[in-house]
Amino acid sequence: MANIIITGASSGIGAELAKILAGRGERVFLTGRSESKLQALGLDAPVHAADLTAPGAAEKVVAAAVEALGGVDVAIHCAGVGLIKSAAETTDADFTQVMNINARATFLFAREVCKVMAAAKRGLFITIPGILGKAPMKNASAYVASKYAVTGMVKCFAQEYQRSGVRFCLFHLGGVDTPFWDNIQMAVQRERMIPVATAAGLVMQAIDAPPHLVLSEVVMQPESHQLV
Ligand SMILES: NC(=O)c1ccc[n+]([C@@H]2O[C@H](COP(=O)([O-])OP(=O)(O)OC[C@H]3O[C@@H](n4cnc5c(N)ncnc54)[C@H](OP(=O)(O)O)[C@@H]3O)[C@@H](O)[C@H]2O)c1
Repeated sequence: MANIIITGASSGIGAELAKILAGRGERVFLTGRSESKLQALGLDAPVHAADLTAPGAAEKVVAAAVEALGGVDVAIHCAGVGLIKSAAETTDADFTQVMNINARATFLFAREVCKVMAAAKRGLFITIPGILGKAPMKNASAYVASKYAVTGMVKCFAQEYQRSGVRFCLFHLGGVDTPFWDNIQMAVQRERMIPVATAAGLVMQAIDAPPHLVLSEVVMQPESHQLV
C-alpha cells in the first residue's frame, strides 16, 4: 500500500486517479481548490482544499499529507488550468494567471514534495505537461509557455535528484476529455479525445513500474495528431 498525494484531485484526470487508487486500497490524500468537489468524490480519503498559488500553500499541503499518511511515496500533480487564445488577445493578466498555476505552483509543489521523498530515499513525482509541454500550437502561446516550463523544470529536478531514489515521470497527453475543456472557446471533437479512463490507466503504468525503473516521458495522442 503506497502513500499517494494527488493535486487537482477534484476534477478530470486527478479525480479519475483518485477513484482508481482509493478503490484498490492505496492511502490517498486529495487536494484541489474546491472542498465541495473533493468531498463529492465520496472517497474514504483525507481531503485538503487549497489554492496552490497562495503563499505557503504548497508547504502546508505537503505537510498535511505527511501528517495524514505518514509519508509520501507518490506525488501526482494534476492541478492546472487551460488557456486557448491568440497571442494578440492574451492579456498580461491571462499570461500571469496561467504561468502562476501551471508553472510557479508546479515548482513550489514539486520543491516541497521532493524534499520529503528524497529524505525517505524513494518516491515518484508524476505530472502532466501534456503534448503542449513539448510541441507548440497556435493560439496557445501562454499555455505552451507554462507547460514547456513544467517540462524543463521537472527535467532539472530529475538531474538534481539523480540516484536519490526519487523518480520523475512526464505525461505528454493530447486532448483528454475532461471538464478542462468546458470553458475553452475552441472547436474540439471531445468524442475523439483520449478518454479520461485511458489517460488514468496510462498513469497507473508509471505507478506500477518496478521501483528501480521509471517510465520517464510518455506521449499519447489521438491518431489524427500522431508524431507531431
Ligand atoms: N484535459 C486535457 O486535454 C489535458 C491534456 C494534457 C494535459 N492536461 C493537463 O493535465 C492536468 C489535469 O487536467 P484535467 O483535464 O484533469 O483538468 P480539470 O478537469 O480542469 O482539473 C484541473 C484541476 O486543477 C485544479 N486547480 C486549478 N487551479 C488550481 C489552483 N490554483 N490550486 C489548486 N488546484 C487548482 C482544479 O481544482 P478545482 O476543480 O477545485 O478548481 C482541478 O482539480 C492539467 O495540468 C492540464 O493542463 C490536460
